[in-house]
Amino acid sequence: MTEVPVLEGFRLRLRPPQRSDMMVLFGWYNDPETVAPFDRFTIDSFEDFETAVAGAPTDPHSLAPRFVVERKADGKVLGFVGHYQAHPVLEITDVWYVLAIPDERGKGYGTESVGLLVDYLFHSQNLARVGATCDVQNLPSAKLLERLGFRHEGTLRAALYHHATWHDVLVFGVRYRF
Ligand SMILES: CC(C)(COP(=O)(O)OP(=O)(O)OC[C@H]1O[C@@H](n2cnc3c(N)ncnc32)[C@H](O)[C@@H]1OP(=O)(O)O)[C@@H](O)C(=O)NCCC(=O)NCCS
Repeated sequence: MTEVPVLEGFRLRLRPPQRSDMMVLFGWYNDPETVAPFDRFTIDSFEDFETAVAGAPTDPHSLAPRFVVERKADGKVLGFVGHYQAHPVLEITDVWYVLAIPDERGKGYGTESVGLLVDYLFHSQNLARVGATCDVQNLPSAKLLERLGFRHEGTLRAALYHHATWHDVLVFGVRYRF
């Protein structure tokens, strides 16, 4: 069994999801307004969601949440993050991240969460690069990535369909430099 560690940051900790988190996480995961503007994922039933979260540590392609974002000061769960191998041939590991509570956005929690996740990936896996993609309209996400040293590497045209239209997608990457 693959052990998922707890990642301790300055104000946040990233920890594996527990059973008691599942209902809240499932609600966020399937709420287009929470995960917008990159729209919803595709696990529809609660049972399938629990199974996917439990299986994620041994499945590098899984899109299920891998860490819950918890504020250290009061234990409040603010969101969730994950990573997945994004291509069948290329060595592409992408991160994704959701700070689910609108009132808790804009406080640096997203940046700290993704920073912890990227550090963990570089230290635990033999990666030369970590990637991320975001809708061209998702400025908070693009700015977050640039703050963490990601570079815009290109733009995929009409690569994402949501809200009844095709969207261009920004491709970002950061190189290992420790
Ligand atoms: C994208 C997302 C994760 C950003 O999370 P966030 O927690 O709001 O991001 P941050 O707070 O780290 O950064 C936002 C702002 O806070 C500011 N900030 C950073 N550290 C701060 C701190 N310690 N105190 C106060 N503000 C701070 C940043 O300067 C930034 O402001 P700016 O973008 O106007 O320059 C969040 O909006 C979200 O979950 N959106 C929906 C899902 C989504 O789009 N996910 C990404 C898919 S690609």
